[in-house]
Amino acid sequence: MRIAPSILSADFANLQRELDAIKNADWAHVDVMDNHFVPNLTLGLPVVESLLKVAPMPLDAHLMIDDPDRWAPQYAEAGCKSVTFHVEAAADPKKIARDIRAAGARSSMAIKPGTPWEPYEELLPELDMVLVMTVEPGFGGQSFMAEQMPKVRAVRESVKKHGGDIWIQVDGGVSAKTIEQCAEAGADTFVAGSAVYGAASAADAVEDLRRLAAGHAH
Ligand code: DX5
Ligand code: ZN
Repeated sequence: MRIAPSILSADFANLQRELDAIKNADWAHVDVMDNHFVPNLTLGLPVVESLLKVAPMPLDAHLMIDDPDRWAPQYAEAGCKSVTFHVEAAADPKKIARDIRAAGARSSMAIKPGTPWEPYEELLPELDMVLVMTVEPGFGGQSFMAEQMPKVRAVRESVKKHGGDIWIQVDGGVSAKTIEQCAEAGADTFVAGSAVYGAASAADAVEDLRRLAAGHAH
């Protein structure tokens, strides 16, 4: 069970300090938004390169951007250990996944709430993680979409059949109230933004989430 706090809900003027506050996390989740694929703008490669120099944990880049074919490999080359592209924005998902791996990172594909899983099942051999979005991508602090749990179960079934070390991530509205149903459905990697950075102690929130998820491990 891996916890990846999203720094989208952190203080952007103090990102190094905010990463240090979640030292006990397995990953730090970095939301890259371009105001085209989603109606919000966050940060890009130059900021990620700076974060990589100071982060005490590996970075999990979630690219909510157009043209991931061009950009995703660059985040892997920069040193992100996991790079997630959205299949809805991808021209050639298989090639992106291969390019990410060739650059030394785990390759990950995200699907929005309205995107079905089945058409992409055949991409599993190219993937190290599948991200099932549990909100519409673009903003932190939205309500968890429990109706995505059947999709998490379907991905878990596919991964079981396929075998190998493929992780299943959920992102959006994950909190102490919702993480158990995600784990129960088959997720093993959990992004949480507001639930971690909105807590009195971000580090304690990470521990609580991990403990709750572990109680429902597959
Ligand atoms: C949403 C982002 C999420 C976001 C999650 O588009 O991909 O990573 O930060 O924030 P919470 O946990 O507050 O829903
Ligand atoms: Zn995200």
